[in-house]
Amino acid sequence: MAFPVNRPRRLRKNENLRRLVREARLSVDDLVYPVFVTHGRGVARPVESMPGICNYSIDRLLEELEEVAALNIPAVLPFGVPEAKDELGSGAYAEDGIIQQAVRAIKEAYPGLLVITDICLCEYTSHGHCGVVENGQVLNDPTLDLLARTAVSHARAGADMVAPSDMMDGRVGAIRRALDENGFADVPIMAYSAKYASAFYGPFREAAGSAPQFGDRKAYQMDPANSDEALREVWLDIEEGADIVMVKPALAYMDVIRRVKDDYGYPVAAYNVSGEYSMVKAAAQRGWVDEQRIVMEILTGLKRAGADIIITYHAKDAARWLREGRQ
Ligand code: PBG
Repeated sequence: MAFPVNRPRRLRKNENLRRLVREARLSVDDLVYPVFVTHGRGVARPVESMPGICNYSIDRLLEELEEVAALNIPAVLPFGVPEAKDELGSGAYAEDGIIQQAVRAIKEAYPGLLVITDICLCEYTSHGHCGVVENGQVLNDPTLDLLARTAVSHARAGADMVAPSDMMDGRVGAIRRALDENGFADVPIMAYSAKYASAFYGPFREAAGSAPQFGDRKAYQMDPANSDEALREVWLDIEEGADIVMVKPALAYMDVIRRVKDDYGYPVAAYNVSGEYSMVKAAAQRGWVDEQRIVMEILTGLKRAGADIIITYHAKDAARWLREGRQ
């Protein structure tokens, strides 16, 4: 017998062999595309730190979504960039708020495209925090009612699914109860369960104008050092009625994605966040990395780690590349 007996390279010899033994497969079915929507008409304002991403007024967003629908991307995740903010983030739960208007318009123009809405106050509060602030503290329980109102108003506008991203304790339960009481028992919740206090959200805060005006989010978002705690957060959200659980950000937290998938067997979403996108874009623009290969490697890696759903600003590019048959 020739040494070595085991030669893993035998199965790597050519592309058809590699296809047969490939384990993780990225599909357009996995992708969710986040978009930023603002007031006005004819607005397509580029987000400087996120090349290829704009703040759109509703009319321009609908044009943008034509391609998203044509690429067969299953879902979009709109974020509101409101005109006015106040202490209690009332724009988040106003019946004619920017998201409520956008959801109605999207569902009318593209009834089959799933609209998942982010439930949070930070884009709508003057202080930029995700909850009610008193004496410099973000109060948990008084925030729950506002989040529940936001979720119900989104469902009323036609949202297919709601995604609480605030990290208040008990918010999934509060939202579940409010949805059920208002006739939306069939609207699922995708909970940002393990959401970390991360520097990777930097570009998003430029895009959505949602940076906290004082302090940081460490008293409600998770410590990047923890993963046992992520399992507890996921467990609590499942107990409270979450249908899909999320880990966010994605790349520095692939171990968390794997643990959550292995321990709970629930659908897991990974949010490939703004900073992760911007880093790839910046390096690609300089010619330092091959953008297409890097993006497909990242997204496939998230699948391999255990993500069922990937929320990514690369969704349109990835869908196009997948269509062209490039894994
Ligand atoms: C709202 C929210 C944020 C993101 C999604 N929902 C910002 C934050 O928590 O500061 C970040 C998304 C991204 O960076 O792409 N709370």
